[in-house]
Amino acid sequence: MAKYRSIVILTGAGISAESGVPTFRGPDGLWEGHRVEDVATPEAFARDPALVQQFYNQRRAGLARVAPNPAHVALARLDAAFDGELLIVTQNVDDLHERGGARRLLHMHGELNKAWCLACDARSGWTADLDDDSRCPSCGRAGHLRPDIVWFGEMPYGMETIEAALARCDLFVSIGTSGNVYPAAGFISTVRYHGRAHSLELNLEPSGGTGWFREARHGPASQLVPAWVDEVLD
Ligand code: OAD
Repeated sequence: MAKYRSIVILTGAGISAESGVPTFRGPDGLWEGHRVEDVATPEAFARDPALVQQFYNQRRAGLARVAPNPAHVALARLDAAFDGELLIVTQNVDDLHERGGARRLLHMHGELNKAWCLACDARSGWTADLDDDSRCPSCGRAGHLRPDIVWFGEMPYGMETIEAALARCDLFVSIGTSGNVYPAAGFISTVRYHGRAHSLELNLEPSGGTGWFREARHGPASQLVPAWVDEVLD
């Protein structure tokens, strides 16, 4: 445990795959049947809000049918036991990290269980379907709520916090992400630029950025992550 003082963990869809949440770019990928620009851009929402709301309503409803897997639980165990600095940055919009027990967590691509009011700018917890009649719990106006999801062309959340943590960390671990989507795909470059940290990829297969990591282990997250957490806490 004394080996590391500051850890940043980046997670992607692969950590939730064994919970039954489809990944984006796998054979059963979420985007199949939907072009990204039809459901995950501000332009799509302006053009066809009902389609976009329905797409995210289905994803939100799907959360009730999935549960955290041993990888989420292991990261929560690390979060509870590690007394150094820790930041789990997830690209996932599901709530499996928090249901697994993680606390030091940042959802850089937003959350399915939140709604954003375009009238008053408030973000509110939201677990039901969203539609044109949905009323903002903060300002009370109907028809202005959208999913609090970061769409393509929008700025991810918490970038200042993340960049500062990446610059300070002595260990960066990337779990279950294909390394296709920036800025998350560039975090390993930031870590390498600052030069000090060990970096580890845990993924089913080599990601696009595998070569940048000092160490890589390949296999299912439900096995790799608990084993790695055991090593760190040993
Ligand atoms: P991807 O679907 O691109 O990549 C998932 C990665 O997880 C792949 O490299 C798989 O090999 C790996 N994987 C699959 N099953 C696994 C398992 N059981 N254990 C370990 N790894 C496994 O998903 P992301 O990289 O998360 O953005 O995608 C990044 C972003 O692209 C998403 O956050 C989303 C999407 O556009 C937004 O919605 C804004």
